[in-house]
Amino acid sequence: MKTRVWVVDNVVDKQRIYPQIQEAAEWLRAGEVVAFPTETVYGLGADAANTAAVDKIFAAKGRPSDNPLIVHVANVVQVEAIVAAIPPVAKTLMERFWPGPLTLVLPKRAGTVSERVTANLPTVAVRMPDHPLALALIEASGLALAAPSANRSGKPSPTTAAHVLADLNGRIAGVIDGGPTGIGVESTVLDCSGEVPTILRPGGVTKEALSEAIGRVEEAIGIGDEQTAPKAPGMKYTHYAPKAPLWIVAGPPSLLQRLVDESRAGGKTVGVLTTEENKSRYAADAVMACGTRRELETVAHRLYDTLRQFDETGVDLIYSEAFPEEGIGVAIMNRLRKAAGGRVIRE
Ligand code: TXA
Ligand code: MG
Repeated sequence: MKTRVWVVDNVVDKQRIYPQIQEAAEWLRAGEVVAFPTETVYGLGADAANTAAVDKIFAAKGRPSDNPLIVHVANVVQVEAIVAAIPPVAKTLMERFWPGPLTLVLPKRAGTVSERVTANLPTVAVRMPDHPLALALIEASGLALAAPSANRSGKPSPTTAAHVLADLNGRIAGVIDGGPTGIGVESTVLDCSGEVPTILRPGGVTKEALSEAIGRVEEAIGIGDEQTAPKAPGMKYTHYAPKAPLWIVAGPPSLLQRLVDESRAGGKTVGVLTTEENKSRYAADAVMACGTRRELETVAHRLYDTLRQFDETGVDLIYSEAFPEEGIGVAIMNRLRKAAGGRVIRE
């Protein structure tokens, strides 16, 4: 299969009909899979009601079929069509955070989205992305789009069309290239189907912001801990991993540099994941600055691209600095721990 690339300026003039979006929407209606930008990462979309189309997502990604997908919508009417009910807290959150990086897990309306999308769960995950091209594509297709991140399963999520092509060229019908995504880590997944809203995956909307809007919010037990049984099925798999093994170093740059020196003395080539503040403090085979600590949003924005860049350097192993777990830092550390397979070195 030859993968079509539609380049579209990352601005959608509502008065204009973009032929690229129209064509991509037609392909989606015909049961093909198409990757598109969102404000978080690129998604790999298919008609959520079409099981054969959804199967193509799992095949292209190499994704385990017990890991359900998020359904992307452009309006609340599309949500009402696929859920059994919208609890009041969910309604409040939609008004406050949609379009935006918040996925809500709600009771599913039977016989609507494919069972493949929901992995036979009684719930469905929905979100309205805050990206003009994503919204234009959903509207032009008239479909609710099941869309996981558009990477091969286990790899860092894609934040550019080039990342999508690096993983899926020849495996998907097309990709809409709308430039780099903004936030850089995936949406927060919040389970609103039980008594207390529970964060299943930390992401673009922080726990603090959710609590401010609706009061009590819990975190799933073992979030970011590979050992515990996960509630979001996707959280149990190794994710976001660069080719070289990665260790998180929870300590000062001096400790990290000592580990680098020891590994290099043992004949290994070593990469360091750091920030603008500290990059000049390291001597290693590849030192990558991933944003600035003064603004952790910049670290989130660059994280997956930085992890992918290590693959090109060919280093044998990577040591990463740790980040404060507040605000977006919670999502950053969650993804880093997964990329590290839980390996953390402390002082
Ligand atoms: O920002 C994002 O959310 C991106 C963009 C493309 O929208 N999408 C994304 O999808 O990250 P994916 O498939 O990589 O992650 C979906 C997460 C998984 O952890 C999955 O287990 C969880 O959502 N999930 C989906 N449906 C669920 C459900 N019914 N109950 C619990 N968790 C669910
Ligand atoms: Mg993913």
